[in-house]
Amino acid sequence: MENLTEENKKEGVTDFSGNYIEKFQDKNVEEFFSGALVTWEKQEDAFLFHGELASLEIRVIAADILKFRHGISGYFEDDFSYSIDPSFQPEELNYKFEDQKATFVIKTDILKCYISKTTLQTKIVTLDGTAVLEDEKGFHWQDHKHYGGHISICTRVLHEGEKFYGLGDKTGNLNLIGTKRELWGTDCYGYGNESDPVYKNIPFYMGQHSQVGYGIFMDNTFRSFFDFGKERKTVCSYWSQGGEMRYYYIHGPKLIDVVSKYARLTGKPQLPPKWALGYHQSKWSYYPESVVRKLGDEFRSREIPCDVIHLDIDYMDEFRCFTWDDKKFPNPKKMISDLKNQGFKTVVIIDPGIKIDKNYRVYQEGMKGNHFCQRMDGDLLKASVWPGLCHFPDFTQKKTREWWATLFDGLIENGVDGVWNDMNEPATFEDGTFPNDVRHDFDGHPGSHRKGHNVYGSLMAQSTWAGQKQYMKNKRPFTISRSAYAGIQKYASVWTGDNMASWEHLKIANIQCQRLAASGISFAGSDVGGFIGSPDGELYTRWIQMAVFHPFFRTHSSGDHGDKEPWKFDQKYVDIVRRFIEMRYELMPYIYSVFQNHSETGIPMIRSLHLEGHIDPETFYREEEFFLGDHLMVCPVSEPGKSSRRMYLTSGQWYNYWSDQLIDGGLEIKVDTPLNQIPIFIRQGAIIPKQPKMQYVDEFVFDELTLECYKPASSTASYIYEDSGDGYDYLESKGFVKKQLTSAIEGNYWLISQVLDGEFASTYQTYEIRLHGLQQMPSQVVVDNEDVTTNAKLESGIVSLSIDKNFKQLIIKQ
Ligand code: NOJ
Repeated sequence: MENLTEENKKEGVTDFSGNYIEKFQDKNVEEFFSGALVTWEKQEDAFLFHGELASLEIRVIAADILKFRHGISGYFEDDFSYSIDPSFQPEELNYKFEDQKATFVIKTDILKCYISKTTLQTKIVTLDGTAVLEDEKGFHWQDHKHYGGHISICTRVLHEGEKFYGLGDKTGNLNLIGTKRELWGTDCYGYGNESDPVYKNIPFYMGQHSQVGYGIFMDNTFRSFFDFGKERKTVCSYWSQGGEMRYYYIHGPKLIDVVSKYARLTGKPQLPPKWALGYHQSKWSYYPESVVRKLGDEFRSREIPCDVIHLDIDYMDEFRCFTWDDKKFPNPKKMISDLKNQGFKTVVIIDPGIKIDKNYRVYQEGMKGNHFCQRMDGDLLKASVWPGLCHFPDFTQKKTREWWATLFDGLIENGVDGVWNDMNEPATFEDGTFPNDVRHDFDGHPGSHRKGHNVYGSLMAQSTWAGQKQYMKNKRPFTISRSAYAGIQKYASVWTGDNMASWEHLKIANIQCQRLAASGISFAGSDVGGFIGSPDGELYTRWIQMAVFHPFFRTHSSGDHGDKEPWKFDQKYVDIVRRFIEMRYELMPYIYSVFQNHSETGIPMIRSLHLEGHIDPETFYREEEFFLGDHLMVCPVSEPGKSSRRMYLTSGQWYNYWSDQLIDGGLEIKVDTPLNQIPIFIRQGAIIPKQPKMQYVDEFVFDELTLECYKPASSTASYIYEDSGDGYDYLESKGFVKKQLTSAIEGNYWLISQVLDGEFASTYQTYEIRLHGLQQMPSQVVVDNEDVTTNAKLESGIVSLSIDKNFKQLIIKQ
């Protein structure tokens, strides 16, 4: 590439054979545009506008979702996607099409899309006339001289004050404004706030301006870039280094609705086994068997709750996947079964690299079945990872995913409960990842690694999930993945990779988990305490306190920087850590209900403030506070030695979890943060279900579920969801119960009503109702027409009483 500018050269990299790969658009290369309209046609719900050099297809997917494709020279690719949920069905639609003088207009019940006849540029406007998304240059492309094909680009007007969110696991500020980001899954050991790209590839972002939020999902797996006003302040652009420009416009107006509509498109997770929401303990690595057993015993004897123990690569026979080292683990089945009797589940790591070893069954099968990735000239790809030289399955090939799934038979037979997929960016030791010339089947749409790279890890996780599902009979799979493409949430949870034991990384983990949740992936967590380095007791404690409120809750570390079991810190920290992990288990009925709501609606489990309070400018730049579900707001302590911190409470009133004090929201407040507390607030009117603390999920059947009822100002809804915690009765035979609780005030009366749906019988008999915000005994309490006033007790300002779990209405007269 002779005619590169110095700036472009600086930004470029060379590939495995020294070829220059441009990282960004080459400003010296000619740009092509669609040109003026030549003809147009309608095909079912799609409109096709043929320009002089390229065609535009717009498909109305829903009143608030439009799909755009740009076909260069009128040629469209086969519309194949790895991310769109196979069960997604476009809505029955009601829209109008108008041929105006200089433009066409597609008008749905929610928005209008204008298409210029002279340029094929587009503009999306709300029905009341707010221009939400306008082309600057719009779609255009450059020829990709090195590889053939095109670099497809979209540039958009960046509006005054526009903010941008999403894009997966990116570090840095939540608002992406002023940054340029790359999607090319990378094993970024010890990454930091400036690192980019990182592990995951989620080409979905949200923009917000003029009190309207929208999302763009560019469904393209090639190396991609997103520029939020970095190159040019007034322009937002995105481009990919190959493939068709295909994207979805998703209208809000609330950002939280954009996320849930994105989840409708790319899929929602089924419920995980409930134990996966418990606390996980991991290290690289726990071995031999005696160490694992001791670990389990320590948790139980110290009464620190824990559900899951993870085995990292050293359980294998010289890192050969799907084998056991029989010296370290002579009888894995017995060990796993004994752990199970103590209430532990076992998760094992599986990487994609398969050792080249003629005597190894997985290698033999992979060779026989033609499952391994090939280089351009037909040789098998060889690269080193933990076991030495390996071949790598082509997960973009259906038969290979099916074969991979069969490999889990033995692990599951041994009792393994979940699988952790690592190194699936894919990562290799020599060049970081596969050479670009590696071939991928791409399910009948063959291409090179340029096309397969960003989706490789997701497809590995999908097939790992399928393998568990196949052999676990009626149990729910649990998969964790380091790499991801859009849609992974249907199959796996994720973690944020090799972070560090520092206060800065506690903040980064908080941002990454919020951002992942806003990008469709709620079931995410970080290596608590940091993977690299050793946290002191204070950092570890503060991290645990935050992670209690993250959906995936695991301590993991590289193991060569000292141990990170909770008891390795001073006793004062151990006691606080224990208390917070106990709190996770007490809140399990709430957390499980939040997960169920997420799996039904796509609404993220944890939510940055701006997702909810999108018209309150104070929320736009808040990064540390977040909601868990509808009713809890949490703010971690992210600096050492802080006995108080400032945070923003969104509008409404909030109860301080620790003191029960009712506080006005819509303000920045200062909150005390002694080492044994972080700011936790409960929405006025909320009902939070709590169970007794346990050493692991469903350790015992309890008699009474506690409902912490916070006095409302206006009618407030809360939900409790219950099922057996595993299996599929909840999908197949109404084996669940959903309890909708409504709390309201009418004059002197506080009314709580309950409506039940589903056929699962809760295992407890009664509710312990705890009324917060009364301060004194009510003059009368009536449950379903029966006066139970004398049953109520007042203690520390909270009125409590026990009532039947099937009650319909509770009336409290003040
Ligand atoms: C890299 C992963 O990110 C880390 O979590 C794991 O412990 C090591 N690989 C070893 O398997």
